[in-house]
Amino acid sequence: MSIRTLIRGGLVVTASDELHADVLIEDGRVAALAAHASAAAEAWTADRTIDATGKYVIPGGVDAHTHMELPFGGTSASDTFETGTRAAAWGGTTTIVDFAVQSVGHSLREGLDTWYAKADGNCAVDYAFHMILSDVNERTLKEMDHLVGEGVTSFKLFMAYPGVFYSDDGQILRAMQRGAANGGLIMMHAENGIAIDVLVEQALARGETDPRHHGEVRKVLLEAEATHRAIQLARVAGAPLYVVHVSAEEAVAELAAARDKGLPVFGETCPQYLFLSTDNLEEPDFQGAKYVCSTPLRPKEHQAALWRGLRTNDLQVVSTDHCPFCFRGQKELGRGDFSKIPNGLPGVENRMDLLHQAVLDGHISRRRWIEIACATPARMFGLYPQKGTIAPGSDADIVLYDPHAEQVISAETHHMNVDYSAYEGRRITGRVDTVLSRGELVIDQREYTGRAGHGAFVPRSTCQYL
Ligand code: URP
Ligand code: ZN
Ligand code: ZN
Repeated sequence: MSIRTLIRGGLVVTASDELHADVLIEDGRVAALAAHASAAAEAWTADRTIDATGKYVIPGGVDAHTHMELPFGGTSASDTFETGTRAAAWGGTTTIVDFAVQSVGHSLREGLDTWYAKADGNCAVDYAFHMILSDVNERTLKEMDHLVGEGVTSFKLFMAYPGVFYSDDGQILRAMQRGAANGGLIMMHAENGIAIDVLVEQALARGETDPRHHGEVRKVLLEAEATHRAIQLARVAGAPLYVVHVSAEEAVAELAAARDKGLPVFGETCPQYLFLSTDNLEEPDFQGAKYVCSTPLRPKEHQAALWRGLRTNDLQVVSTDHCPFCFRGQKELGRGDFSKIPNGLPGVENRMDLLHQAVLDGHISRRRWIEIACATPARMFGLYPQKGTIAPGSDADIVLYDPHAEQVISAETHHMNVDYSAYEGRRITGRVDTVLSRGELVIDQREYTGRAGHGAFVPRSTCQYL
């Protein structure tokens, strides 16, 4: 039997509107919205009424870049699909798009099936997949068509990590040509990994082994150069391009120049580049290892360009690149050799709060918060309007957000399966109060009421900006 739920008295905020409205949910979907206290809303009856007075009623977050259980650097990301999606829910994210991985010498099918098996029956919220291409060849290219057909409509390629995920320019061009033909969106890790590996070797030979050298060798120019090259390859292929984890001002400039030419080029940045910097990588006693990720954290001066890019729409999406490794036993693998520190930061639980703080700090507007964290990632990856908004027919993935609650981010209180927080001690105004996923309460007034297995795989259509 379907439960009718009524959310009454909140301020509904979507990417396009803010209105004091009540929201009626039926069969896991939004059935209707009506102005609060209007005759229409007053006439509604429901099995359950949730009082949203004083709260924002926002679409559940869509985090389009996570790596649950990712094998990397001889270890694996510490959040499973179960722990990671539970933490996502605590942070107001109700859909993740994770990366299935093709291993070298293996098919896309094998990689994708492995990721289906990891996630199936374990997720607290809905999930979808991108596919990492590590071995572009004739067979792989054909497989891309099948994946698009089953709702895996985006493919990540790496210009970094030679010998692991790396693709050369010819492989990239071929994959882009295939994407242009079958509608798949190419996502690019844009760093010149061949040049970086030379600099890594030279740094280590000089005895420069600390975490901060990770940031120094992964130079801004090598991110900008790779971003430029990826854009030109996409132009040659006639393909759209989405550049992931943009961290440097010069890379934003490459994206802006391409967009000014009218090219279908898109960019994502992440909270770590907006809120953290090389100062963190320099923390003593190997603590800097907590902040090793690629692209790396940059000097603080780059942050203004990222915020500007988000305001001017030269950057469209903020995802987390959530890829947690515990400090003890995992990050520590790189003591004495920064190149052995597993790359990645935790953050799936923190994104919506950090971006709300950015609203209060004047970096972005309230609606832009929802646009970059919910609506645009949903549109970019073919999930809209099922996800990313609150409208009749949309999945009832809804967050009641208390904009006045105060919190201090800490590993002591977070729900991610990782022994540190990249944002330890940071004060945030605003906090998730209640979360619904397809109409089911997952967080009820800060109590977890969800369950592993509620979250379902969501097949995606192709990018909705093309
Ligand atoms: O450091 C990072 N970003 N780790 C995850 C893998 C990737 O490149 O996104
Ligand atoms: Zn990457
Ligand atoms: Zn990533």
